Amino acid sequence: MHLPDYKEARTRDRRDYRRIDFSFDEKIKDKYKGKKFFLKTYGCQMNEHDSENISALLIKLGFSKVDDYNDADLVLLNTCSIRENAHNKAFGMLGRLKHLKQTKPDLIVGLCGCMAQEASVVEEILRDYKWVNFVFGTHNMYNLSNIIDKAIEENKQQIEVYSREGDLVEGLPVNRVNSYKAYVNIIYGCDKFCTYCVVPYTRGRERSREKEDILKEVKALVDDGYKEVTLLGQNVNAYGKDLYDDYTLANLLEEIAIMGIPRIRFTTSHPWDFTDKMIEVIGKYPNIMPSVHLPVQSGSSRVLKLMGRRYTKESYLELFNKIKKVVPGVSISTDIIVGFPGEEEEDFLETLDLVNTCKYDNAFTFVFSARVGTPAEKLPDNTPLKEKEERLQRLNEVVNKYFLENNKKLEGSVVPVLVEGISDKKNMYYGYSDTNKLINFSSNKSINVGDIVDVKITKAKTWSLDGEVDE
Ligand code: SAH
Ligand code: SF4
Ligand code: F3S
Repeated sequence: MHLPDYKEARTRDRRDYRRIDFSFDEKIKDKYKGKKFFLKTYGCQMNEHDSENISALLIKLGFSKVDDYNDADLVLLNTCSIRENAHNKAFGMLGRLKHLKQTKPDLIVGLCGCMAQEASVVEEILRDYKWVNFVFGTHNMYNLSNIIDKAIEENKQQIEVYSREGDLVEGLPVNRVNSYKAYVNIIYGCDKFCTYCVVPYTRGRERSREKEDILKEVKALVDDGYKEVTLLGQNVNAYGKDLYDDYTLANLLEEIAIMGIPRIRFTTSHPWDFTDKMIEVIGKYPNIMPSVHLPVQSGSSRVLKLMGRRYTKESYLELFNKIKKVVPGVSISTDIIVGFPGEEEEDFLETLDLVNTCKYDNAFTFVFSARVGTPAEKLPDNTPLKEKEERLQRLNEVVNKYFLENNKKLEGSVVPVLVEGISDKKNMYYGYSDTNKLINFSSNKSINVGDIVDVKITKAKTWSLDGEVDE
């Protein structure tokens, strides 16, 4: 048994980690043939991509995937700890599974992902969820086949969570959700330690993948006919800093752009590490999508300082304007937290002022959620939750106004859309534009999922646009 420990997780030292190739114990290949698994994913794209690896590993064990947990022999929750409600959702699901297990005693239930890295969660599992068969963390996901096999063979709860990041494993099998767009990890972990955030504890220190490994993966995707890659990291702008003297995200983006995949995206960018060279590269290559997610968190420099964000309202705006100037037609989205401990009405007004200046194309807005073990958890906080929720309401009204305003500017224009499917509305396809806007559209000619088509925008809405294929 290995239990998580935040003290250890906080450690950042110069200890080298090894790059190793994934290996699989062939003795357990197909051992569970005929059994079914259900995998539920919470959280960010990184978790979604981890689930693509997890699925592939379960398939190697012989399991096949089902979409209803009632039909499954094994249920695995890939969890997120970013906010309280992510926690609550996972525990709610565990409640339903406990019920199911009463009628289906052979059901195997496991938990992994970021919540598994939290000592308080694992303590709760040990105390109140003795029926959960196994828990493993983000650092030993690659070893899940052995953990699950042991849990089943020994019929004993397995808790295997490592707090220090382990080796960087290459060559993990992957069962991608889509055949036309793909996630590619470029950097794991986060060293920013924003005072409200659990990620540096649950995902460990920043570790970049070697550029050759990334380029090889993208090349294979190009050869397989993929149309879009999204480069993933909690802070992609820090790419390469731990590995190379002079090779950054700008170099990586450029090399990938030259490979000719039609669409390249990347997320998330921390404003602190955004270099002029990166902006230049994004502006230079038409296949690097003109869409940047640039989380600001707050418009108050005082609150930004309390958050440990390492920029001010002014320096953020300077960067924002530079990106807008160098990348024509770029859409910029953001994340905002309201109700951070100590945020006063005047700080909140600074946030509204910033939003009125930036007029974001999209924004994810949250009420601050105190996370166990983070510095912000201990800050004095006198604002009642009700007032924080009112701030969120006020903020949402303003951000929504700009979503619609920006979308309206596209009415009558023609935008390239990567077709993702047919929506419930009859004959309406849907997909995302180059600027990452959701487009619902009709077409008289036959088109396929994965095509990139020109769509004429006929009507703007707040969260989507309607259009028709431009013939
Ligand atoms: N690495 C990304 C953010 C990943 S988490 C970045 O720094 O930009 C996604 C978003 O969740 C954050 O941008 C933040 O807005 C929000 N978030 C993180 N921790 C939070 C907390 N404790 N309470 C509320 N929102 C939080
Ligand atoms: Fe969390 Fe900050 Fe790292 Fe983003 S940059 S993952 S908000 S610590
Ligand atoms: Fe959640 Fe972990 Fe992602 S905390 S947001 S799943 S890195």
